Amino acid sequence: MSLQGKQALITGAGSGIGRASAMRFHQGGAGVMCADIDLHAAEDAANHINQLGGRAEAIRLDVRDREAVRQALHGTIEALGDLNVLFNNAGVGAGPDWDTTLRINLDGVYNGLYYGCELMAERGGGAVINTASILGLVGPTPLPGGPILERDYAVGAYAASKGAVVQLTRQFALSHGSRGVRVNALAPGYIVTPMTALLRDAPEAEQFLISLHPMGRLGRAEEIANAAAFLASDEASFINGVILPVDGGYTAR
Ligand SMILES: NC(=O)c1ccc[n+]([C@@H]2O[C@H](COP(=O)([O-])OP(=O)(O)OC[C@H]3O[C@@H](n4cnc5c(N)ncnc54)[C@H](O)[C@@H]3O)[C@@H](O)[C@H]2O)c1
Repeated sequence: MSLQGKQALITGAGSGIGRASAMRFHQGGAGVMCADIDLHAAEDAANHINQLGGRAEAIRLDVRDREAVRQALHGTIEALGDLNVLFNNAGVGAGPDWDTTLRINLDGVYNGLYYGCELMAERGGGAVINTASILGLVGPTPLPGGPILERDYAVGAYAASKGAVVQLTRQFALSHGSRGVRVNALAPGYIVTPMTALLRDAPEAEQFLISLHPMGRLGRAEEIANAAAFLASDEASFINGVILPVDGGYTAR
């Protein structure tokens, strides 16, 4: 998949799926703006790409801050010369309170869509990719050991935020498709990243999560990055409004 000549803004680029995607986009030939609330992590990702001879910049960005998101989009054009791809990937797992989860996972994506789609439409088009989740498509399977109220609330907030990202993806795909902006989402299964470290630390829980994936393993961040690179590329030129599970068959049940 060639991303030659494309300039991409990736949120949550300091870790996990976002960092792997920054690397993958670079390998495809793209310039990358690495945005993260953790500036040090974003800089580390960008430095790595630059050391490999690529073109990357870093910026501190809290995706909850709509004006900051707008500035980051314009800043990408200033720093890299263009904006062709926006990967709304930053997110938190099931853990923080309801408001925090919804503000980062849902408002954060909306902020990117709100300014990013318009900006790219004005500039002739582009591709937006949102990171949803299998838990935006199917109900969360409770972990063994019975329901734990607090955890159920946390998972509920996460699933609600990702289900909303699925519908936002469809809405923006419909409203911006004719303006040359494709909007799609990835729905990863459980992926080996820092986000799932706590879950994977408990061997029983990890085995249970593995058993939910028909391929008998968890996913790797690079496997999500490959799918993101495809949706970002011109090879996906007629793909719009799709929610693509990258889940080893999890949602095929
Ligand atoms: N890991 C999984 O199993 C899995 C499964 C499905 C979906 N996802 C989704 O994939 C995305 C990436 O997750 P990951 O697994 O790579 O997690 P991760 O924790 O490794 O990375 C998330 C990154 O987002 C950044 N971030 C958090 N809040 C932010 C904010 N307000 N503004 C900007 N950046 C912020 C963090 O600093 C971090 O660098 C998330 O949207 C997550 O919900 C992950």
